Amino acid sequence: MSAAPEAGRPGGWPAAARLVARWLDQRERIDGLLDTLPPGLTGAERARCQHLVLGVVRHFGRLDAALGRLVAHPPRFSTRAVLFIAGFELIEASGSPEAEGRVAKIVHHAVEQTKALASPAEARLVNAVVRKLAGVIASGRVPGTAAAPAELAEYFSHPEWLVRAWLAQFGAEGTRALLEWNQQPATVYARWRGPAEEPAPDFLKPSTWAGFFEVASGHWPQVEPLLKGGKLYLQDPGTRLAVDLLAPQAGETVLDLCAAPGGKSLLCADRMRTGRVVAMDLPGPRIGRLKENLSRVAGVEVALVQADLLEGAVMALREHKLPEVYAAVMIDVPCSNTGVMRHRADVKWRLQAGDFKKHPQQQLALLHAAARLVAAGGRLVYSTCSIDAEENERVIEEFFNSRAGGPFKLEASATSRPWATGHDGAGAFLLKKSS
Ligand SMILES: C[S@@+](CC[C@H](N)C(=O)[O-])C[C@H]1O[C@@H](n2cnc3c(N)ncnc32)[C@H](O)[C@@H]1O
Repeated sequence: MSAAPEAGRPGGWPAAARLVARWLDQRERIDGLLDTLPPGLTGAERARCQHLVLGVVRHFGRLDAALGRLVAHPPRFSTRAVLFIAGFELIEASGSPEAEGRVAKIVHHAVEQTKALASPAEARLVNAVVRKLAGVIASGRVPGTAAAPAELAEYFSHPEWLVRAWLAQFGAEGTRALLEWNQQPATVYARWRGPAEEPAPDFLKPSTWAGFFEVASGHWPQVEPLLKGGKLYLQDPGTRLAVDLLAPQAGETVLDLCAAPGGKSLLCADRMRTGRVVAMDLPGPRIGRLKENLSRVAGVEVALVQADLLEGAVMALREHKLPEVYAAVMIDVPCSNTGVMRHRADVKWRLQAGDFKKHPQQQLALLHAAARLVAAGGRLVYSTCSIDAEENERVIEEFFNSRAGGPFKLEASATSRPWATGHDGAGAFLLKKSS
């Protein structure tokens, strides 16, 4: 729980209650919602607010089921938000040696917040419900690998259809491990891009993956200027798989399709040190971040092409007086994001079974378009941040079943299942075109 804010400042907990109320009501995207945080919060309050909001979204299914059994008529959203936040705090406290003392504090704090945000009558309801919820959470049994899909789905807060799909794909142990993985707060990783003679600051802890550091929490005031200055770039080690397969060489020209916001363009450029990166993405709101990230590239020439890869990509390259085919092409397609659900806690609530049909169609079309831009003898990397075969292996199989696949050969692939690798999930496939 957060301490009471100073007079006149909104505080992390009430700010979280407002955002959670909005999310319960409108299901806005969480990253956009967190961007609306009021100014005037301290770094610690902001972090607390973010932690609470993401915690509620992550555990929404379990809390919703438990509260549904305890409350006959859901109260208005502001009060429901208090119940959900207190519920998340109870989940966090459960199993800790001081759980009992913390429960009392959580109940008291939730009641006081409801008095301020709603009414004394609703505060009485919150008092009764949070006490009962504490009992439900404390007595909750952690499902084992043999648990039924519905039980796994509720305890680990995932849609049941998704749990069933994963059970069919990854088996009971893999699915159980994945669900558990997704329920933990995400570790923040970054690449240190400072000059070679400048060592990474102490709050960056070297990780198992060369060049990637774990960012210790509570250092936002130091992190922010380093990000703005381009010395630090927040990036999960899972993103390196596609770039490792492409292995961009010094002096060559890399075509990065579906480039925004530019994480992989930047990683390619940092590996190459000299040469050129041509980054293409659709005109629209994501171009701003891509421009910003490309402006941080040093030593490598960059060209930004705003175009629809499926319509007029060659024309756009021509207009920019850029080559129409490339020896190194990467395409990082839009996907279900099932590999990055730890970071993007709301993805699981937006995803629908039909997305595993819709995405592969678009992915295959994009892969075909990318293949047309590969020079004879060139290499093409297809990449996703999905762990699902429909968006990875199946798309590659479909490509090879088509005429366009004829000149290509699958040279290598790399997949990350987060519970096994310890970082985000991803799929990457290196296709080589005959000369
Ligand atoms: C997964 S994101 C790419 C992430 C990026 N590679 C990175 O590392 O930061 C997918 C991108 O595909 C782009 N995209 C989707 N359809 C496209 C199309 N028809 N032409 C060009 N870009 C497209 C989206 O705008 C989005 O930026």
